[in-house]
Amino acid sequence: MKEPVRIAITGAAGQISYSLAFRIASGDMLGKDQPVILQLLEITPAMDALNGVVMELNDCAFPLVQEIVATDDPNVAFKDADFALLVGARPRGPGMERKDLLEANAAIFSVQGKALNDNASRDVRVLVVGNPANTNALIASCNAPDLNPGQFTAMMRLDHNRAKTQLAQKVGKHVTDVESMIVWGNHSATQYPDLAHCKVDGKAALELVDQAWYENDFIPTVQQRGAAIIKARGASSAASAASAAIDHMRDWALGSDGIVSMGIPADGSYGVEPGIMYSYPVVCKNGQYEIVQGLEIGEFSRERMNATEQELREERAAVEHLLG
Ligand code: NAI
Repeated sequence: MKEPVRIAITGAAGQISYSLAFRIASGDMLGKDQPVILQLLEITPAMDALNGVVMELNDCAFPLVQEIVATDDPNVAFKDADFALLVGARPRGPGMERKDLLEANAAIFSVQGKALNDNASRDVRVLVVGNPANTNALIASCNAPDLNPGQFTAMMRLDHNRAKTQLAQKVGKHVTDVESMIVWGNHSATQYPDLAHCKVDGKAALELVDQAWYENDFIPTVQQRGAAIIKARGASSAASAASAAIDHMRDWALGSDGIVSMGIPADGSYGVEPGIMYSYPVVCKNGQYEIVQGLEIGEFSRERMNATEQELREERAAVEHLLG
């Protein structure tokens, strides 16, 4: 039997975690042979609800679960954590401006960054799901000087998966026929789902669809999918977000099947200067992700990549004073 790994989940009594924790516990993230210790973090007023989640996790009698820790102390939740999924965040309240939202979350993610720095495994892999995910990931990483910034990532995989499905359905193929999908930039309405390098069944995607569908249908549908789900369901995407978080962490730890999109520290690749968490095309192997280099960027793409970069720079400027 393998040694158990410690997996911290924040916002553990929330909607996404209600799917995420159970799927991790059943082995969907790291495999059916990997025992896990779940370290669940909530805010104090949500501890009763979290205890209810723990009761249900126990009632599942998952063979892989060795221990469950439920706490409102980030130092306890992140103790020796090998993986940290930062899902909990402050939602936008009535009358709250974007700047207020950024600041409220910056306060949460700076505390959690410090707690990761002081307590987590030195090899911890961090995925930020809570919005604004990219900038929250930046804040956490800036507050964790003893960890490598590359250990912090932001979730773009839901956007990536949404884009694959939209394209596959349009051309009457299966998602597994779609390769080299890329979503660039921010997890927001400025994200750029790019078909220029994408193939379906080995054929160039842009030869299978017309430009009008690409520009006026595909891109906005992917960008606005979160809002469409809220409208239809009366609640935000939770199970699909949890599924994407599992895909992201599994690929990072165990390797990806080709290109996937991850929000990671910009390093100058594709002209995106450091200082923000930008979604790039990456390939994961041997427990590491690597940016796919050398893709040709046309004018259409460049404009959209710049717009989403600009938004991330503005988000950064709004929280500059909290970056440590
Ligand atoms: P939710 O509101 O159901 O749950 C959030 C939970 O986080 C709550 O139980 C709350 O008590 C907890 N929380 C708040 N502050 C915390 C803190 N400082 N420490 C620990 N826990 C804390 O929300 P849901 O649906 O689970 O979504 C969570 C986040 O994920 C939201 O910010 C949402 O916008 C974001 N999201 C991101 C996606 C992405 O693709 N990156 C996709 C879908 C959602």
